[in-house]
Amino acid sequence: MSDNTKTTTAVADSFPQQRDGDTAPLLQVRGLKKHFPIKGGFPVKRTVGHVKAVDGVDFEVYPGESLGLVGESGCGKSTTGRLLTRLLEPTQGTIEYKGQDITRANRRQLAPIRSEIQMIFQDPYASLNPRQTVGTIIAGPMEINGINPPGGREKRVRELLEIVGLNPEHYNRFPHEFSGGQRQRIGVARAVALQPKLIVADEPVSALDVSIQAQVVNLLQEVQREMGIAFVFIAHDLAIVRHFSQRVAVMYLGKVVEVADRDSLYNRPRHPYTHALLSAVPEADLDADKRERIRLEGDVPSPISPPSGCRFRTRCWKAQDKCATEEPPLVQLSGNRAGHLTACHFPEEPTTEARGEDIVMDRGLKALEDGAEGGTTITKG
Ligand SMILES: Nc1ncnc2c1ncn2[C@@H]1O[C@H](COP(=O)(O)OP(=O)(O)OP(=O)(O)O)[C@@H](O)[C@H]1O
Ligand code: SF4
Ligand SMILES: [Mg+2]
Repeated sequence: MSDNTKTTTAVADSFPQQRDGDTAPLLQVRGLKKHFPIKGGFPVKRTVGHVKAVDGVDFEVYPGESLGLVGESGCGKSTTGRLLTRLLEPTQGTIEYKGQDITRANRRQLAPIRSEIQMIFQDPYASLNPRQTVGTIIAGPMEINGINPPGGREKRVRELLEIVGLNPEHYNRFPHEFSGGQRQRIGVARAVALQPKLIVADEPVSALDVSIQAQVVNLLQEVQREMGIAFVFIAHDLAIVRHFSQRVAVMYLGKVVEVADRDSLYNRPRHPYTHALLSAVPEADLDADKRERIRLEGDVPSPISPPSGCRFRTRCWKAQDKCATEEPPLVQLSGNRAGHLTACHFPEEPTTEARGEDIVMDRGLKALEDGAEGGTTITKG
C-alpha cells in the first residue's frame, strides 16, 4: 500500500490549490431524502411506516475531486449513491448537476447528462452480465448513448481494456474467466468508457481480497487524476477513504454529521461519531499508548423511527438534555477551517490527542480487558 499512499498524498495535497473559492460545484445536494414505504395490513396492504434511509442530506462535489462518504452499515450511503445517479427517485430535496436541477428530470431530459454520471458497484460478480462478453459489457454505455468513437467501438474497448490494465486480446472473454479484481477493472472500464465527469463508486473494493484492494484503489486514483473525473467514493471505514478522498462526509442514520477536507477531518474531528470512527482505524504510525479508544456500544437505531434531536444521542457519551430536543444543525464551528461542518451541540476539542484515559463504551469488552490488563480503563456512558 506504500506506493499507493505516495501517489494519493500528492494528488490530495495538490487539490486545495486547484479549487479556488469561485469554482462552482459539479453536483449540489440539498435536503435530500429517501423514505421507503413499509407495507402492512390485511386484507388490504397499506403504508404503515417508512424507512428513512436518507433523511435530509446536504453536500457538494467539486469538479475532479474525490468526496468520501463513510459510515456504518445501513446509514444510507448506497441509497444516497443511487439517488445521485438517479437510479432511485428522491422523496424530497434537490440534486443540481452543473447548476441544473435534475431531481425530477425524466429520461429524455436526463439523456444529455446520462453519460456524464456513472456508477461502479460493490460486487463485481453481480454487476456484470455473465452472458455478455467483456467487449459487449464495456461497449454498453456507448451503445445506450448511441456513441460511435473514431475507429469504432471495438477499438475503443480495446484501448479501455489497456487503460485499466487488462489484456485487449481478452475482448471476447466472459466475466467468469476473470478474477474478482479483474472483474472490478472491467467495471471501471465500463464506467470510464464515455469519459464521465462524475463516478459514484459504491464500496468498489470491499468485496475484493485485501491484497487486491490497493491495486484497484490505485487504478481508480489514476483514472481520477488523469481523466479529471470527480468521485463520490462510498466506504465503511475511514482508512480506505483516507488514501483516496480529498474531502470526506461522515453519515449517521440518514444524515451527514460532519464534512471536511481530509486533513481537518482526520486531525481535528469535532463530531463524537467521527472521533469514534477514527479511533477504530488501525494506525501503524500512531503510538499505541497515545491512542484513545472509543468503542461504540449498541447498534445503530432503526431508521424507521430515529431518535429525536440528535440521532447519535443513544450512543453518544457526551449527550445532554438538549441533544434529545434539538436537532444540531450542520455548521462551521468557530476555529474550524472553511468548509469543515459539524452537526453537534457539544463538539469534541479539535484534536485527536489522547485524553489520558481510554473511553470504552462496551462494558463486556472492558471487563475482559480489565481481567487481562489489571484495569486502567475508565468507562463512560
Ligand atoms: N429498497 C429498499 N426498501 C426498503 N428499505 C431499504 C431499501 N434499500 C435500503 N433500505 C434501507 O435503508 C437503510 C439504508 O440502506 P443503505 O443500503 O443505503 O445503507 P448503506 O449505508 O449503504 O449500508 P451498507 O454499508 O450495509 O451497504 C437500511 O436500513 C436499509 O435496510
Ligand atoms: S449533539 Fe449531543 S448527542 Fe449528538 S453528537 Fe453532539 S453531544 Fe452527542
Ligand atoms: Mg451500501
